[in-house]
Amino acid sequence: MHITFNTAVARLALPALAEGPAEMAHSGIREIANEALRRPGTIRLDVGQPDFPTPQHVKDAGKRAIDENMTFYTHTQGLLSLREKLVDKLARVNGIKTTPEAIACGPGGVGAIAATLAAIVERGDEVLLSDPGWPNYRMMLPWLGARAVFYPCPPSAGFQPDLESIERLISPQTKVLVVNSPNNPTGAVYPPDTIAAMVELAQRHNLWLISDECYDQIVLDGSWTSPAHIAPDDPRIASAFTFSKTYAMTGWRLGYVTGSNELIDTVTKVLESNSSCTSTITQVAAEAALAGPQDCVAEMASAYRRRRDLAAGILEEAELLIARPSGAFYIMADVSPTGLPARDFAFRLLRERGVSAAPGTAFGQQAAGAVRISLASSDADLREGVSRLAEFVHRGI
Ligand SMILES: Cc1ncc(COP(=O)(O)O)c(C=O)c1O
Repeated sequence: MHITFNTAVARLALPALAEGPAEMAHSGIREIANEALRRPGTIRLDVGQPDFPTPQHVKDAGKRAIDENMTFYTHTQGLLSLREKLVDKLARVNGIKTTPEAIACGPGGVGAIAATLAAIVERGDEVLLSDPGWPNYRMMLPWLGARAVFYPCPPSAGFQPDLESIERLISPQTKVLVVNSPNNPTGAVYPPDTIAAMVELAQRHNLWLISDECYDQIVLDGSWTSPAHIAPDDPRIASAFTFSKTYAMTGWRLGYVTGSNELIDTVTKVLESNSSCTSTITQVAAEAALAGPQDCVAEMASAYRRRRDLAAGILEEAELLIARPSGAFYIMADVSPTGLPARDFAFRLLRERGVSAAPGTAFGQQAAGAVRISLASSDADLREGVSRLAEFVHRGI
């Protein structure tokens, strides 16, 4: 049967798109990255992914999975054998005691976090997010009819959270506090006292606490604490992780979240509805990553540490260093002496000096006078790129 296109109907206004997603801004990181792609030869300091290949033994396990026909659906939460290995990893690295039933794997950390928010948040709820912060959190909320409320992590405080502000921002609608340490974009690692205070705040106001620990194994100095380690029996805490950063596996798409059985059961229903399960091939490769030698993790972290020292040295010399990052693979450069908004600065730096860095405005208001430099770039690119940036701030504008 053919249905003829009715021109009278065609003149009607199209059915509306969902207002939240249709009206939200695209990621400000992608905007500059797309422009950089059009300019061959650009020094790319904008990308937020490891520049190392996935370790060979992990790639081999993925290839074997295909050859051995491990190419079918798995349990929605992920292969039991993978979740058993994750139980060991969470105990060893994060000090979190859990069970395979209380872990759900998703398509990347982003998928695991989005499913957790969908399991918790309803229309009208408010979610506390850090400013500056990873833009994806705020982009997850319009689909849920929820609203972001930003708590400041100001440059003047080395990008540490202002705990008093968080307290003041809590309203009867507040449902979730999102904590991200080590932090993207600032590289800040929150000290144990700060994490304890954030847990206490969530408990006192009866909020869910989603802890995004996707950079848990990229700690450059000092120690790092997981909220779920501090409050092991608190069912309000969900902790999210990824293979993307630790094992240079961004394209494989595997993350996971752990929390109470009740929460993970609801997260699993969300995952059932939108992904069924994450790639089986990836899950087998991830098992090899967990079971195999861990030197690759330490080697990558040590490269990021060396590059952090290199970039921090150049920025410090140019008086553009805001805070020395202790984790993740980012460093913020102060571009406020130019008087330009970060987005304008970033586009001029790209067009006039051939260097691409993510404008601080992509991450909120607090970093409007800064740009984010990714340390996941070669030492040579970092040396040249950060030097050109410093020269441009002081003499180019
Ligand atoms: C803070 C933060 N959380 C989570 C993720 C999720 O990464 P993926 O979805 O690749 O696991 C990222 C990626 O950039 C990130 O920066």
